[in-house]
Amino acid sequence: MAFVLLAAPHVLASETGERIAEAECAACHGERGRSEQSDLPSIGGFSEFAIMDLLDSYRLGFRKARVVELDDGSETDMAQIVESLSEEAIDAVALYYADQEWIPHEQPFDADLARRGARIHSVKCGKCHPRGGSVPEADHALLAGQWREYLAGEFRDFDSGARRMADRMKKRYDTLSQADKAALLEFYVSAGRYSSELSDSSSGAWPATSFTTVDYLARKAVGAEEAKAQVAYLLSTLEVGPMNGAILRDAFESTIRDFEDAVVVESARVSNADYIVTRDLRDFGASPIPFHTPESFRKLLDLMH
Ligand code: HEC
Ligand code: HEC
Repeated sequence: MAFVLLAAPHVLASETGERIAEAECAACHGERGRSEQSDLPSIGGFSEFAIMDLLDSYRLGFRKARVVELDDGSETDMAQIVESLSEEAIDAVALYYADQEWIPHEQPFDADLARRGARIHSVKCGKCHPRGGSVPEADHALLAGQWREYLAGEFRDFDSGARRMADRMKKRYDTLSQADKAALLEFYVSAGRYSSELSDSSSGAWPATSFTTVDYLARKAVGAEEAKAQVAYLLSTLEVGPMNGAILRDAFESTIRDFEDAVVVESARVSNADYIVTRDLRDFGASPIPFHTPESFRKLLDLMH
């Protein structure tokens, strides 16, 4: 009995959701949320929260809706559609789409660019869009295997400001070149084919001491104000390696001569880093962690992918 009581509201909402989806959404988003038109996004398989959140962004005006012409010649857009739905209807339809399966669209793509995109994604985007943007539980729109034409339109809208970004995404997005965006698009269109070659945890961190060193050097070179802006930018875009008393003490007692370099090695060891990248090869000879110059590290990455 308890089971029936618990299960009933979900089943009811899901049935209502199915009715709403078929009547109000399927003409554009397809059967079970799998869109047949490349300029319209698939949404079946997004999490319940993602659907509600995305619908909210139209209601709040964070996202300018595109006008769509229907078969009968009339026009509408997502903002109008969201306006016409009650809270209960939104809950029900979100639950319905969350119950569907995400089926990536098979589309042609440029493999070299997709590989490059996979690397950029894992460094800058993978935290919030894990496994190439294929994990519904991350509660964002799914990216892996979404239609190319639709995604390209979203990139344009992010660029022009027609669609507002979450602050933390914007910080990273603003560091992308147009070539980076083109590569990311190929990666998403490839439906994450190359993400299995990279773990989402393949990322880099800067030693904590580097920030103070850069600040010191930059103040001398470009003045306090500009140095502050540059260091703020670095802090917002780069991960910072661990630093604490134990790291300093262990580094002090290590066999590496230079204290600062020993701190870098110890911080890398504590964070289970696979490699250290440095131009200062002299002092890292005693490092238990393999080290590379930026140039040899790039070659290694190319070999790996
Ligand atoms: C007339 C066509 C049309 C109908 C009907 C329609 N949509 Fe949309 N929907 C779009 C278009 C076009 C976009 C993407 C472009 C934009 O932002 O305008 C979109 C975007 C979305 C998104 C965001 C997807 C993403 O990846 O960011 C969600 C969620 C969504 N629609 C849900 C719904 C739901 C739920 C319904 C039914 C209640 C519905 N839509 C009905 C055309 C439609
Ligand atoms: C701090 C978390 C965060 C980071 C980092 C992040 N994103 Fe997002 N992303 C979001 C959120 C939040 C949304 C919008 C809401 C949603 O999709 O559910 C979003 C939406 C998107 C969309 C729109 C998908 C759609 O169909 O609506 C694209 C494309 C996208 N992100 C690409 C990127 C790229 C490229 C990067 C790396 C440069 C990135 N994101 C980094 C959080 C993030």
